[in-house]
Amino acid sequence: MCGIVGYIGSNQAAPIILDGLSKLEYRGYDSAGMAVFDGEKINAKKAVGRLKILENLTHGGETMKGTAGVGHTRWATHGAPSDANSHPHLNAKGTIAVVHNGIIENYIPLKKKMISKGYEFVSETDTEVLAHLLDYYYKGNPLEAISKVLHRVEGSYALGIMFSEYPDEIYAARKDSPLIVGQNEEGCFIASDVPAILKYTRSVYYVDNQEIVQLKREGMKFFSVDEEELTKEAVTIDWDADAAEKAGYEHFMLKEMYEQPKTVTDTISPRIKDNDIVIDELKMTDEELKAIKRIHIVACGSAYHAGVTGKYVIESLARIPVEVDFASEFRYRDPILGDDCMVIVISQSGETADSLAALRDSKAKGYKVLGIVNVVGSSIAREADSVMYTWAGPEIAVATTKAYSAQLAALYLLAMKLAKANNRVSEDRFQQLLVDLRKLPEQIELLLGQKEKIQHFANRYVGAKDIFFIGRGIDYAISLEGSLKLKEISYVHSEAYAAGELKHGTISLIEDGTLVVAVSTQPNLYQKTISNIVEVKARGAFIMAVTSVENQAIEKASDYVVYIPQTDPLFTNSLAIIPLQLFGYYVAVGKGCDVDKPRNLAKSVTVE
Ligand code: AGP
Repeated sequence: MCGIVGYIGSNQAAPIILDGLSKLEYRGYDSAGMAVFDGEKINAKKAVGRLKILENLTHGGETMKGTAGVGHTRWATHGAPSDANSHPHLNAKGTIAVVHNGIIENYIPLKKKMISKGYEFVSETDTEVLAHLLDYYYKGNPLEAISKVLHRVEGSYALGIMFSEYPDEIYAARKDSPLIVGQNEEGCFIASDVPAILKYTRSVYYVDNQEIVQLKREGMKFFSVDEEELTKEAVTIDWDADAAEKAGYEHFMLKEMYEQPKTVTDTISPRIKDNDIVIDELKMTDEELKAIKRIHIVACGSAYHAGVTGKYVIESLARIPVEVDFASEFRYRDPILGDDCMVIVISQSGETADSLAALRDSKAKGYKVLGIVNVVGSSIAREADSVMYTWAGPEIAVATTKAYSAQLAALYLLAMKLAKANNRVSEDRFQQLLVDLRKLPEQIELLLGQKEKIQHFANRYVGAKDIFFIGRGIDYAISLEGSLKLKEISYVHSEAYAAGELKHGTISLIEDGTLVVAVSTQPNLYQKTISNIVEVKARGAFIMAVTSVENQAIEKASDYVVYIPQTDPLFTNSLAIIPLQLFGYYVAVGKGCDVDKPRNLAKSVTVE
């Protein structure tokens, strides 16, 4: 996720900005830059790569004299990492500079309009459109210009802005992306997150949505997006620096679990326009989509599990046969892909060696490859014929949560797009799916609210030796992910089984008190799964059921039930995964495991 730091006061700004950005490095980034007013003009420096490069370029900020400035670490969303795409972005005259964290969802039409008005763009980013819009609306009043721009843009933003005609002011604004401001006796600060300014002040203001802040050396003023002055209460931060990086959460994994509502929103909302699904990045017409007769999904680990869900959803909606393969298997079994096959490679990091190799093999055989990737500009993203980004932001914890949820969301969108192109779904059903899709973030939020309840239950299984996850159909897909989450961070042995398959051998492992987590969210399979629950219960199993609110009948056969809100049966994995993530997390915490960095694991497996 991008990081923003701004300062205006009695000290040199550049060193403070560089120091603040270094405290935000944990958020993940691929380039950095800053703009400082040097007394006459805005002096901007930016560079792709680590913050150290910018530090060296500016001799630790020494060459960028001035006491007012804004800085940025970029996590690429639109436009690969490059000097030109790095922030800050300036207007052509260099009199306005802006840094941005978020996604301007309507930047394409805005960019077209600005170009038609004679503006020239020098980057591929969505952010640059803000610099030119500010230029367009600026008539000598910064607040008025900012207000007009914010009324035009859609999406999420945290902004730091400078106007060279107002050297004693810097501005901040926010919608959906985090932003705080603070003050001490030596000036005022802007930051994406507390760690950046904790050493200067513990008294901060959380900027709320569609608020604008005017920061001067001696103080700050708050305004609504309609330029009405506001009053706000300061908050005192009592976290230490390490806790602050996690925004007060104990682990990055928990923080990222709680970011899932936003990552699902960020992945779906830019692709839903006028109650239709628009995935421009596929670079395929409906006719070309209709020509796809087979799909082969290739991935590893959790990305593979997302692919299994994708199989069920695409086959159910678009009636296109889908095979899902471990990348490590795919590349050595000389797969028969058949004509008109599209290969989809799913990868959070975009650098997994087996997945990258599978992509290259597929392209070498002449197949079109779509990448579903989280890291912009990663190898898989660059080498795929087209890439659909999951805008989950950088994921720090080794065990994926928010990126996995974003992968599911991307697959739902793709399935619905394919179904519509093949006339396989009625308009009513399509609109109902859109309604349920849009509701997922708030439903995920609701389930995260059950944290304490799940933690209480999980504490009973800190000493468990074996835990089984069972499910039928799409519930089998989520059982795979729930099992992996548990074992990779708590080191408790676990297996996921198709519920109907357990009795063909593995049921012999069920002993008195063995925990079986039964996922049952498919109405047509409720009764079948209850039968499987009864089978294992008869052998002593303790049953945790994860089921839809309508399936109260399961209570008779279960010992502990977690209900998920009503949604389309095809989307239930996005909800059922929440209690499963929380369960695995709290078993691991209860065991004192290193949740964010589990033993033997790497965030990106770049070796075979
Ligand atoms: C997920 O929790 C694991 N850390 C791991 O299975 C991961 O999903 C797998 O290595 C694939 O990584 P990728 O998505 O970056 O390709």
